[in-house]
Amino acid sequence: MASSEMARHLKRENIRSLTMSGHVGFESLPDQLVNRSIQQGFCFNILCVGETGTGKSTLIDTLFNTNFEDYESSHFCPNVKLKAQTYELQESNVQLKLTIVTTVGFGDQINKEESYQPIVDYIDDQFEAYFQEELKIKRSPFTYHDSHIHVCLYFISPTGHSLKTLDLLTMKNLDSKVSIIPVIAKADTVSKTELQKFKIKLMSELVSNGLQIYQFPMDDDTIAKVNAAMNGQLPFAAVGSMDEVKVGNEMVKAGQYPWGVVQVENENHCGFVKLQEMLICTNTEDLREQTHTRHYELYRRCKLEEMGFTDVGPENKLVSLQEIYEAKRREFHGERQRKEEEMKQMFVQREKEKEAILKEAERELQAKFEHLKRLHQEERMKLEEKRRLLEEEIIAFSKKKATSEIFHSQSFLATGSNLRKDDDRKNSNVL
Ligand code: GTP
Ligand code: MG
Repeated sequence: MASSEMARHLKRENIRSLTMSGHVGFESLPDQLVNRSIQQGFCFNILCVGETGTGKSTLIDTLFNTNFEDYESSHFCPNVKLKAQTYELQESNVQLKLTIVTTVGFGDQINKEESYQPIVDYIDDQFEAYFQEELKIKRSPFTYHDSHIHVCLYFISPTGHSLKTLDLLTMKNLDSKVSIIPVIAKADTVSKTELQKFKIKLMSELVSNGLQIYQFPMDDDTIAKVNAAMNGQLPFAAVGSMDEVKVGNEMVKAGQYPWGVVQVENENHCGFVKLQEMLICTNTEDLREQTHTRHYELYRRCKLEEMGFTDVGPENKLVSLQEIYEAKRREFHGERQRKEEEMKQMFVQREKEKEAILKEAERELQAKFEHLKRLHQEERMKLEEKRRLLEEEIIAFSKKKATSEIFHSQSFLATGSNLRKDDDRKNSNVL
Protein backbone atom coordinates (compact mmCIF):
# COMPACT_ATOMS: atom_id res chain seq x y z
CA MET A 1 0.00 0.00 0.00
CA ALA A 2 1.41 3.45 -0.90
CA SER A 3 2.23 5.73 2.11
CA SER A 4 -0.43 8.35 1.23
CA GLU A 5 -3.05 5.66 0.92
CA MET A 6 -1.92 4.16 4.24
CA ALA A 7 -2.36 7.57 5.96
CA ARG A 8 -5.89 7.89 4.54
CA HIS A 9 -6.69 4.36 5.70
CA LEU A 10 -5.50 5.11 9.26
CA LYS A 11 -7.62 8.24 9.38
CA ARG A 12 -10.69 6.40 8.21
CA GLU A 13 -10.20 3.64 10.79
CA ASN A 14 -9.64 6.24 13.53
CA ILE A 15 -6.22 4.85 14.39
CA ARG A 16 -3.73 7.20 16.04
CA SER A 17 -0.22 7.39 14.67
CA LEU A 18 2.54 7.59 17.34
CA THR A 19 6.32 7.90 17.28
CA MET A 20 8.57 5.82 19.51
CA SER A 21 11.53 7.15 21.42
CA GLY A 22 13.77 4.17 20.68
CA HIS A 23 14.36 1.06 18.59
CA VAL A 24 12.13 -1.92 19.48
CA GLY A 25 12.90 -4.27 16.63
CA PHE A 26 9.78 -4.81 14.51
CA GLU A 27 11.57 -3.26 11.58
CA SER A 28 12.84 -6.77 11.02
CA LEU A 29 9.33 -7.97 10.13
CA PRO A 30 9.97 -7.84 6.35
CA ASP A 31 13.18 -9.85 6.88
CA GLN A 32 11.25 -12.41 8.91
CA LEU A 33 8.77 -12.63 6.08
CA VAL A 34 11.52 -13.05 3.50
CA ASN A 35 13.23 -15.75 5.55
CA ARG A 36 10.02 -17.65 6.09
CA SER A 37 9.09 -17.38 2.41
CA ILE A 38 12.51 -18.64 1.35
CA GLN A 39 12.17 -21.55 3.74
CA GLN A 40 8.72 -22.44 2.49
CA GLY A 41 9.66 -22.00 -1.15
CA PHE A 42 7.49 -20.47 -3.84
CA CYS A 43 4.91 -21.85 -6.13
CA PHE A 44 3.87 -20.55 -9.52
CA ASN A 45 1.47 -22.10 -11.99
CA ILE A 46 1.33 -21.09 -15.64
CA LEU A 47 -1.32 -22.08 -18.13
CA CYS A 48 -0.40 -21.89 -21.83
CA VAL A 49 -3.37 -21.75 -24.15
CA GLY A 50 -2.71 -21.80 -27.87
CA GLU A 51 -3.20 -23.74 -31.03
CA THR A 52 -1.04 -26.81 -31.61
CA GLY A 53 2.48 -25.90 -32.69
CA THR A 54 2.25 -22.16 -31.90
CA GLY A 55 5.46 -22.31 -29.88
CA LYS A 56 4.15 -22.78 -26.32
CA SER A 57 6.80 -25.25 -25.19
CA THR A 58 9.65 -23.36 -26.86
CA LEU A 59 8.63 -20.08 -25.21
CA ILE A 60 8.36 -21.69 -21.75
CA ASP A 61 11.78 -23.33 -22.22
CA THR A 62 13.23 -19.97 -23.25
CA LEU A 63 11.55 -18.10 -20.38
CA PHE A 64 13.03 -20.42 -17.76
CA ASN A 65 16.21 -21.11 -19.70
CA THR A 66 15.88 -24.85 -19.43
CA ASN A 67 14.54 -27.79 -21.35
CA PHE A 68 11.27 -29.05 -19.92
CA GLU A 69 11.35 -31.91 -22.41
CA ASP A 70 7.82 -31.52 -23.64
CA TYR A 71 6.67 -33.69 -26.50
CA GLU A 72 4.85 -32.46 -29.61
CA SER A 73 1.07 -32.85 -29.72
CA SER A 74 -0.85 -34.43 -32.56
CA HIS A 75 -3.25 -32.39 -34.68
CA PHE A 76 -5.80 -35.20 -34.57
CA CYS A 77 -7.09 -35.05 -30.99
CA PRO A 78 -10.88 -35.45 -31.00
CA ASN A 79 -11.17 -32.86 -28.22
CA VAL A 80 -9.12 -30.36 -26.25
CA LYS A 81 -7.20 -31.70 -23.26
CA LEU A 82 -4.85 -30.21 -20.71
CA LYS A 83 -1.60 -31.62 -19.52
CA ALA A 84 0.07 -30.48 -16.33
CA GLN A 85 3.56 -31.09 -15.08
CA THR A 86 5.24 -29.75 -11.95
CA TYR A 87 8.96 -29.00 -11.76
CA GLU A 88 11.31 -27.92 -8.99
CA LEU A 89 13.66 -25.09 -9.97
CA GLN A 90 16.28 -23.31 -7.93
CA GLU A 91 17.90 -19.91 -8.43
CA SER A 92 20.40 -18.85 -5.71
CA ASN A 93 18.68 -19.95 -2.50
CA VAL A 94 15.15 -19.53 -3.84
CA GLN A 95 13.20 -22.67 -4.67
CA LEU A 96 10.34 -22.51 -7.10
CA LYS A 97 7.73 -25.21 -7.59
CA LEU A 98 6.63 -24.47 -11.12
CA THR A 99 3.61 -26.09 -12.71
CA ILE A 100 3.15 -25.76 -16.44
CA VAL A 101 -0.24 -26.59 -17.83
CA THR A 102 -0.63 -26.63 -21.61
CA THR A 103 -3.51 -27.22 -23.94
CA VAL A 104 -3.34 -30.25 -26.22
CA GLY A 105 -5.28 -30.24 -29.47
CA PHE A 106 -6.56 -26.67 -29.07
CA GLY A 107 -7.96 -25.37 -32.37
CA ASP A 108 -7.72 -28.75 -34.15
CA GLN A 109 -11.39 -29.76 -34.10
CA ILE A 110 -13.88 -28.88 -36.83
CA ASN A 111 -16.41 -27.75 -34.25
CA LYS A 112 -14.57 -25.44 -31.86
CA GLU A 113 -17.62 -24.19 -29.98
CA GLU A 114 -16.84 -26.09 -26.79
CA SER A 115 -13.01 -25.87 -27.01
CA TYR A 116 -12.79 -23.52 -24.03
CA GLN A 117 -14.77 -25.83 -21.72
CA PRO A 118 -11.95 -28.21 -20.66
CA ILE A 119 -9.80 -25.17 -19.80
CA VAL A 120 -12.57 -23.59 -17.72
CA ASP A 121 -13.20 -26.93 -16.03
CA TYR A 122 -9.52 -27.35 -15.18
CA ILE A 123 -9.32 -23.90 -13.57
CA ASP A 124 -12.58 -24.48 -11.65
CA ASP A 125 -11.35 -27.88 -10.46
CA GLN A 126 -8.34 -26.21 -8.84
CA PHE A 127 -10.60 -23.61 -7.17
CA GLU A 128 -12.93 -26.36 -6.00
CA ALA A 129 -10.06 -28.40 -4.52
CA TYR A 130 -8.94 -25.36 -2.51
CA PHE A 131 -12.52 -24.54 -1.51
CA GLN A 132 -12.98 -28.08 -0.18
CA GLU A 133 -9.68 -27.79 1.70
CA GLU A 134 -10.85 -24.53 3.26
CA LEU A 135 -14.08 -26.15 4.46
CA LYS A 136 -12.28 -29.06 6.13
CA ILE A 137 -12.23 -29.17 9.92
CA LYS A 138 -8.62 -30.32 9.87
CA ARG A 139 -6.86 -28.14 7.31
CA SER A 140 -3.24 -28.26 6.27
CA PRO A 141 -2.51 -24.79 4.84
CA PHE A 142 1.27 -25.21 4.93
CA THR A 143 1.45 -28.52 3.15
CA TYR A 144 -1.38 -27.84 0.72
CA HIS A 145 -0.04 -27.61 -2.83
CA ASP A 146 -1.48 -24.48 -4.38
CA SER A 147 -2.58 -25.62 -7.81
CA HIS A 148 -4.46 -22.46 -8.82
CA ILE A 149 -3.54 -21.11 -12.22
CA HIS A 150 -1.74 -17.85 -11.52
CA VAL A 151 -1.42 -16.68 -15.10
CA CYS A 152 -2.63 -17.68 -18.53
CA LEU A 153 -0.34 -16.98 -21.44
CA TYR A 154 -2.69 -16.81 -24.37
CA PHE A 155 -0.88 -17.51 -27.65
CA ILE A 156 -2.38 -15.60 -30.56
CA SER A 157 -1.44 -16.98 -33.98
CA PRO A 158 0.67 -14.48 -35.97
CA THR A 159 -1.87 -14.06 -38.75
CA GLY A 160 -1.40 -10.28 -38.99
CA HIS A 161 -5.18 -10.03 -39.39
CA SER A 162 -7.35 -10.20 -36.31
CA LEU A 163 -8.43 -12.41 -33.46
CA LYS A 164 -10.19 -15.64 -34.36
CA THR A 165 -13.65 -16.40 -32.95
CA LEU A 166 -12.01 -19.23 -31.02
CA ASP A 167 -9.66 -16.74 -29.31
CA LEU A 168 -12.47 -14.33 -28.43
CA LEU A 169 -14.73 -17.07 -27.12
CA THR A 170 -11.98 -18.68 -25.06
CA MET A 171 -10.67 -15.46 -23.54
CA LYS A 172 -14.24 -14.32 -22.79
CA ASN A 173 -14.83 -17.50 -20.81
CA LEU A 174 -11.52 -17.29 -18.99
CA ASP A 175 -11.13 -13.62 -18.13
CA SER A 176 -13.08 -13.78 -14.85
CA LYS A 177 -11.20 -16.90 -13.74
CA VAL A 178 -7.57 -16.18 -14.49
CA SER A 179 -5.18 -13.31 -15.28
CA ILE A 180 -4.66 -13.41 -19.03
CA ILE A 181 -1.50 -12.11 -20.67
CA PRO A 182 -1.93 -12.25 -24.45
CA VAL A 183 1.20 -12.94 -26.50
CA ILE A 184 1.66 -12.94 -30.23
CA ALA A 185 3.17 -16.32 -30.98
CA LYS A 186 6.16 -16.63 -33.33
CA ALA A 187 6.23 -12.87 -33.68
CA ASP A 188 9.39 -13.16 -35.81
CA THR A 189 7.23 -14.40 -38.68
CA VAL A 190 5.59 -10.98 -39.05
CA SER A 191 7.43 -7.83 -40.15
CA LYS A 192 7.98 -5.03 -37.63
CA THR A 193 5.48 -2.62 -39.20
CA GLU A 194 2.92 -5.36 -39.64
CA LEU A 195 3.43 -6.37 -36.03
CA GLN A 196 2.70 -2.84 -34.80
CA LYS A 197 -0.52 -2.68 -36.79
CA PHE A 198 -1.46 -6.20 -35.62
CA LYS A 199 -0.93 -5.24 -31.97
CA ILE A 200 -3.15 -2.15 -32.28
CA LYS A 201 -5.84 -4.17 -34.03
CA LEU A 202 -5.74 -6.91 -31.39
CA MET A 203 -5.97 -4.44 -28.51
CA SER A 204 -8.91 -2.62 -30.04
CA GLU A 205 -10.65 -5.96 -30.62
CA LEU A 206 -10.04 -7.03 -27.04
CA VAL A 207 -11.44 -3.74 -25.75
CA SER A 208 -14.45 -3.69 -28.08
CA ASN A 209 -15.35 -7.23 -27.02
CA GLY A 210 -15.14 -6.28 -23.35
CA LEU A 211 -12.34 -8.72 -22.60
CA GLN A 212 -10.49 -8.17 -19.34
CA ILE A 213 -6.82 -8.88 -19.76
CA TYR A 214 -4.30 -8.62 -16.94
CA GLN A 215 -3.03 -5.12 -16.26
CA PHE A 216 0.36 -4.83 -14.57
CA PRO A 217 -0.33 -3.14 -11.21
CA MET A 218 0.51 0.48 -10.67
CA ASP A 219 -0.14 0.86 -6.93
CA ASP A 220 3.48 0.16 -6.00
CA ASP A 221 5.46 3.37 -6.64
CA THR A 222 8.68 1.46 -7.27
CA ILE A 223 7.36 -0.41 -10.31
CA ALA A 224 4.40 1.76 -11.32
CA LYS A 225 6.27 3.52 -14.10
CA VAL A 226 7.66 0.41 -15.78
CA ASN A 227 4.36 -1.43 -15.37
CA ALA A 228 2.45 1.46 -16.92
CA ALA A 229 4.81 1.38 -19.89
CA MET A 230 4.40 -2.38 -20.21
CA ASN A 231 0.61 -2.14 -20.13
CA GLY A 232 1.01 -0.06 -23.28
CA GLN A 233 3.09 -2.81 -24.92
CA LEU A 234 0.48 -5.54 -24.65
CA PRO A 235 0.15 -8.00 -26.31
CA PHE A 236 3.81 -8.96 -26.17
CA ALA A 237 5.44 -10.08 -29.38
CA ALA A 238 6.94 -13.37 -28.24
CA VAL A 239 9.77 -15.22 -29.89
CA GLY A 240 11.11 -18.41 -28.40
CA SER A 241 14.26 -20.28 -29.28
CA MET A 242 16.77 -22.34 -27.37
CA ASP A 243 19.16 -22.34 -30.35
CA GLU A 244 22.35 -20.34 -29.93
CA VAL A 245 23.79 -18.25 -32.74
CA LYS A 246 27.11 -16.41 -32.77
CA VAL A 247 26.53 -12.65 -32.93
CA GLY A 248 29.80 -10.73 -32.77
CA ASN A 249 31.83 -12.52 -30.13
CA GLU A 250 28.87 -13.74 -28.18
CA MET A 251 26.60 -16.76 -28.40
CA VAL A 252 23.01 -15.56 -28.09
CA LYS A 253 19.62 -17.25 -28.18
CA ALA A 254 18.20 -16.54 -31.59
CA GLY A 255 16.21 -17.77 -34.55
CA GLN A 256 18.19 -17.84 -37.78
CA TYR A 257 16.36 -17.19 -41.05
CA PRO A 258 17.32 -16.56 -44.66
CA TRP A 259 16.60 -12.89 -44.11
CA GLY A 260 18.62 -12.59 -40.88
CA VAL A 261 18.87 -13.43 -37.19
CA VAL A 262 16.16 -12.64 -34.63
CA GLN A 263 17.77 -12.36 -31.21
CA VAL A 264 15.34 -13.51 -28.55
CA GLU A 265 16.88 -11.39 -25.79
CA ASN A 266 17.23 -8.24 -27.86
CA GLU A 267 14.46 -5.78 -26.98
CA ASN A 268 14.66 -4.24 -30.43
CA HIS A 269 13.93 -7.59 -32.02
CA CYS A 270 10.97 -8.79 -29.95
CA GLY A 271 9.11 -8.54 -26.63
CA PHE A 272 10.59 -11.65 -25.05
CA VAL A 273 12.69 -9.81 -22.44
CA LYS A 274 9.76 -7.61 -21.45
CA LEU A 275 7.55 -10.65 -21.02
CA GLN A 276 10.20 -12.47 -19.00
CA GLU A 277 10.78 -9.47 -16.79
CA MET A 278 7.11 -8.74 -16.23
CA LEU A 279 6.17 -12.35 -15.62
CA ILE A 280 9.07 -13.73 -13.64
CA CYS A 281 10.92 -10.77 -12.11
CA THR A 282 8.38 -8.05 -11.37
CA ASN A 283 4.80 -9.21 -11.12
CA THR A 284 4.86 -12.88 -10.10
CA GLU A 285 3.67 -12.07 -6.58
CA ASP A 286 0.93 -9.78 -7.86
CA LEU A 287 -0.28 -12.51 -10.20
CA ARG A 288 -0.41 -14.95 -7.30
CA GLU A 289 -2.23 -12.40 -5.16
CA GLN A 290 -4.73 -11.55 -7.90
CA THR A 291 -5.51 -15.24 -8.25
CA HIS A 292 -6.42 -15.48 -4.60
CA THR A 293 -8.00 -12.10 -3.97
CA ARG A 294 -9.91 -11.71 -7.23
CA HIS A 295 -10.44 -14.94 -9.11
CA TYR A 296 -10.68 -17.41 -6.23
CA GLU A 297 -12.76 -14.90 -4.24
CA LEU A 298 -15.24 -14.70 -7.10
CA TYR A 299 -15.42 -18.50 -7.36
CA ARG A 300 -15.87 -18.80 -3.60
CA ARG A 301 -18.58 -16.13 -3.53
CA CYS A 302 -20.56 -17.74 -6.36
CA LYS A 303 -20.18 -21.15 -4.79
CA LEU A 304 -21.38 -19.98 -1.36
CA GLU A 305 -24.29 -18.08 -2.93
CA GLU A 306 -25.17 -21.21 -4.89
CA MET A 307 -25.23 -23.07 -1.58
CA GLY A 308 -27.65 -20.48 -0.25
CA PHE A 309 -25.27 -18.40 1.88
CA THR A 310 -25.33 -14.62 1.86
CA ASP A 311 -23.89 -11.77 3.90
CA VAL A 312 -27.16 -9.85 4.21
CA GLY A 313 -30.55 -11.17 5.17
CA PRO A 314 -34.01 -9.65 4.75
CA GLU A 315 -34.16 -5.85 5.19
CA ASN A 316 -30.45 -5.64 4.36
CA LYS A 317 -29.46 -6.81 7.84
CA LEU A 318 -26.07 -8.43 8.27
CA VAL A 319 -26.36 -12.12 9.01
CA SER A 320 -23.68 -14.52 10.18
CA LEU A 321 -22.82 -17.80 8.50
CA GLN A 322 -24.06 -19.61 11.60
CA GLU A 323 -27.47 -17.91 11.46
CA ILE A 324 -27.86 -18.81 7.81
CA TYR A 325 -26.70 -22.34 8.49
CA GLU A 326 -29.23 -22.73 11.29
CA ALA A 327 -32.02 -21.20 9.23
CA LYS A 328 -31.11 -23.54 6.38
CA ARG A 329 -31.05 -26.47 8.75
CA ARG A 330 -34.50 -25.56 10.06
CA GLU A 331 -35.73 -25.10 6.51
CA PHE A 332 -34.23 -28.43 5.53
CA HIS A 333 -35.70 -30.12 8.59
CA GLY A 334 -39.16 -28.67 7.85
CA GLU A 335 -38.87 -29.69 4.23
CA ARG A 336 -37.82 -33.21 5.22
CA GLN A 337 -40.75 -33.54 7.62
CA ARG A 338 -43.13 -32.26 4.95
CA LYS A 339 -41.73 -34.76 2.47
CA GLU A 340 -41.94 -37.58 5.02
CA GLU A 341 -45.58 -36.70 5.76
CA GLU A 342 -46.29 -36.53 2.03
CA MET A 343 -44.69 -39.93 1.53
CA LYS A 344 -46.65 -41.41 4.44
CA GLN A 345 -49.91 -40.06 3.01
CA MET A 346 -48.99 -41.43 -0.36
CA PHE A 347 -48.16 -44.77 1.16
CA VAL A 348 -51.49 -44.95 3.03
CA GLN A 349 -53.35 -43.89 -0.11
CA ARG A 350 -51.56 -46.53 -2.17
CA GLU A 351 -52.30 -49.17 0.50
CA LYS A 352 -55.97 -48.24 0.38
CA GLU A 353 -56.00 -48.39 -3.40
CA LYS A 354 -54.28 -51.77 -3.36
CA GLU A 355 -56.69 -53.08 -0.72
CA ALA A 356 -59.66 -51.93 -2.79
CA ILE A 357 -58.23 -53.62 -5.88
CA LEU A 358 -57.62 -56.82 -3.93
CA LYS A 359 -61.13 -56.74 -2.46
CA GLU A 360 -62.61 -56.23 -5.91
CA ALA A 361 -60.58 -59.16 -7.21
CA GLU A 362 -61.74 -61.28 -4.27
CA ARG A 363 -65.34 -60.31 -4.95
CA GLU A 364 -64.96 -61.24 -8.61
CA LEU A 365 -63.37 -64.56 -7.69
CA GLN A 366 -66.15 -65.29 -5.19
CA ALA A 367 -68.79 -64.51 -7.84
CA LYS A 368 -67.01 -66.75 -10.32
CA PHE A 369 -66.81 -69.49 -7.72
CA GLU A 370 -70.51 -69.18 -6.91
CA HIS A 371 -71.36 -69.30 -10.60
CA LEU A 372 -69.21 -72.39 -11.15
CA LYS A 373 -70.70 -74.01 -8.03
CA ARG A 374 -74.19 -73.37 -9.36
CA LEU A 375 -73.29 -74.84 -12.75
CA HIS A 376 -71.73 -77.83 -11.05
CA GLN A 377 -74.86 -78.33 -8.92
CA GLU A 378 -77.08 -78.11 -11.96
CA GLU A 379 -74.85 -80.54 -13.84
CA ARG A 380 -74.94 -82.96 -10.91
CA MET A 381 -78.71 -82.77 -10.67
CA LYS A 382 -79.01 -83.46 -14.39
CA LEU A 383 -76.72 -86.45 -14.04
CA GLU A 384 -78.68 -87.68 -10.99
CA GLU A 385 -81.86 -87.44 -13.04
CA LYS A 386 -80.26 -89.33 -15.91
CA ARG A 387 -79.05 -92.03 -13.54
CA ARG A 388 -82.44 -92.36 -11.99
CA LEU A 389 -84.02 -92.74 -15.43
CA LEU A 390 -81.39 -95.25 -16.41
CA GLU A 391 -81.92 -97.24 -13.25
CA GLU A 392 -85.69 -97.23 -13.89
CA GLU A 393 -85.01 -98.37 -17.42
CA ILE A 394 -82.76 -101.14 -16.10
CA ILE A 395 -85.39 -102.27 -13.62
CA ALA A 396 -88.08 -102.22 -16.33
CA PHE A 397 -85.78 -104.10 -18.62
CA SER A 398 -84.97 -106.67 -15.93
CA LYS A 399 -88.68 -107.14 -15.27
CA LYS A 400 -89.35 -107.54 -18.94
CA LYS A 401 -86.53 -110.00 -19.20
CA ALA A 402 -87.77 -112.06 -16.29
CA THR A 403 -91.31 -112.12 -17.70
CA SER A 404 -90.06 -113.15 -21.08
CA GLU A 405 -87.94 -115.90 -19.54
CA ILE A 406 -90.95 -117.30 -17.60
CA PHE A 407 -93.07 -117.12 -20.68
CA HIS A 408 -90.39 -118.84 -22.68
CA SER A 409 -89.94 -121.72 -20.22
CA GLN A 410 -93.71 -122.28 -19.96
CA SER A 411 -94.09 -122.48 -23.72
CA PHE A 412 -91.15 -124.88 -23.81
CA LEU A 413 -92.78 -127.17 -21.24
CA ALA A 414 -96.05 -127.09 -23.13
CA THR A 415 -94.33 -128.03 -26.37
CA GLY A 416 -92.59 -130.97 -24.60
CA SER A 417 -95.82 -132.56 -23.25
CA ASN A 418 -97.49 -132.28 -26.65
CA LEU A 419 -94.63 -134.07 -28.27
CA ARG A 420 -94.84 -136.88 -25.70
CA LYS A 421 -98.59 -137.21 -26.38
CA ASP A 422 -97.90 -137.50 -30.13
CA ASP A 423 -95.25 -140.18 -29.53
CA ASP A 424 -97.61 -142.18 -27.33
CA ARG A 425 -100.29 -141.99 -30.00
CA LYS A 426 -97.86 -143.17 -32.67
CA ASN A 427 -96.68 -146.05 -30.51
CA SER A 428 -100.29 -147.27 -29.85
CA ASN A 429 -101.02 -147.22 -33.57
CA VAL A 430 -98.03 -149.39 -34.25
CA LEU A 431 -99.13 -151.92 -31.70
P1 GTP B 1 2.39 -28.43 -29.20
O1 GTP B 1 2.78 -28.65 -27.79
O2 GTP B 1 2.64 -29.62 -30.05
O3 GTP B 1 1.01 -27.91 -29.35
O4 GTP B 1 3.32 -27.31 -29.82
P2 GTP B 1 3.89 -26.02 -29.12
O5 GTP B 1 2.85 -24.97 -29.13
O6 GTP B 1 4.47 -26.39 -27.82
O7 GTP B 1 5.02 -25.56 -30.14
P3 GTP B 1 6.56 -25.90 -30.06
O8 GTP B 1 7.22 -25.08 -29.03
O9 GTP B 1 6.73 -27.36 -29.99
O10 GTP B 1 7.03 -25.33 -31.47
C1 GTP B 1 6.55 -25.84 -32.68
C2 GTP B 1 7.52 -25.45 -33.79
O11 GTP B 1 7.55 -24.03 -33.89
C3 GTP B 1 8.94 -25.90 -33.54
O12 GTP B 1 9.48 -26.32 -34.76
C4 GTP B 1 9.64 -24.67 -33.04
O13 GTP B 1 11.02 -24.63 -33.40
C5 GTP B 1 8.90 -23.56 -33.77
N1 GTP B 1 8.89 -22.32 -32.99
C6 GTP B 1 8.63 -22.23 -31.69
N2 GTP B 1 8.68 -20.95 -31.31
C7 GTP B 1 8.97 -20.22 -32.41
C8 GTP B 1 9.12 -18.83 -32.66
O14 GTP B 1 9.03 -17.98 -31.79
N3 GTP B 1 9.40 -18.45 -33.95
C9 GTP B 1 9.49 -19.36 -34.94
N4 GTP B 1 9.74 -18.89 -36.15
N5 GTP B 1 9.35 -20.65 -34.75
C10 GTP B 1 9.09 -21.09 -33.49
MG1 MG C 1 4.27 -28.15 -26.69
